[in-house]
Amino acid sequence: MERGATSSAETWDAFFSDFYLRAYAHDEHENAEAQALSAARLSGCPAGGDLLDVPCGFGRHSVPLARAGYRVVGVDRSESLVAEARRRAGGARWPKLSRADYRELPFPDASFDAAINLFTSLGYLGDQEDTRALAEIGRVLRPGARLVIEVMHRDLLVREYRDQDWRLVGEGRLLLEQRTFDAASGVAQVTQTLIEGNGTRDSRSYSIRVYTATELVAMLAAAGFADAKCYGDLEGAAFTTATRLVIAASR
Ligand SMILES: C[S@@+](CC[C@H](N)C(=O)[O-])C[C@H]1O[C@@H](n2cnc3c(N)ncnc32)[C@H](O)[C@@H]1O
Repeated sequence: MERGATSSAETWDAFFSDFYLRAYAHDEHENAEAQALSAARLSGCPAGGDLLDVPCGFGRHSVPLARAGYRVVGVDRSESLVAEARRRAGGARWPKLSRADYRELPFPDASFDAAINLFTSLGYLGDQEDTRALAEIGRVLRPGARLVIEVMHRDLLVREYRDQDWRLVGEGRLLLEQRTFDAASGVAQVTQTLIEGNGTRDSRSYSIRVYTATELVAMLAAAGFADAKCYGDLEGAAFTTATRLVIAASR
């Protein structure tokens, strides 16, 4: 693969699959619910308003937000993750869940009061296509509606950089992560290996663009958003090189 390029859509599809569910869908419901409610508050979505969760993954934010009364629509490109989100929604009227690429959302202009994009859900496609995705999210927002983004960013990655670490991800399963970072392009290459309790191993590799706050704010402006504000968490803490990055920007 070309150094400094992000992965192809096929590589991402192979990662956001049953592999991702095994690595990330273990027990963390309360934390996800708290994050979801904070993100919705920061987005300024009115109570009971139309809220887009994009991408929604396996529904860990969409489901509690719908229970809290928002009319949530979750969109994701991954068939297996949307299937898991549907299973978690358990046939309730909300959230509505659809499978789509966030560069081509299946909704009319100005459909939503707010949108959330959580847990580093940008960087997969590179600057140009990520800007296109942001513009498409902007298209489906009502005038003045806010988008809340929550991501890893380059300053934090460099500050905490380790070329490898591992963690337990439930049911005796180990997730090993090995990284390289190309400072010129801002692209991290990551190999994740899942090691099951019985010793079976399965690996996926990907290359992701890790933006600075400055870059993401400029991309939001290019995508038609205004008034971008940076925070260090979804509660509105101060943004520094030691925090994650949350940006709220208006359509
Ligand atoms: C790190 S996950 C986060 C999902 C969710 N926001 C959460 O916090 O659980 C990123 C998600 O982006 C989705 N995704 C990747 N590329 C996409 C695209 N081009 N269009 C829509 N969704 C995409 C993946 O399928 C995956 O569910």
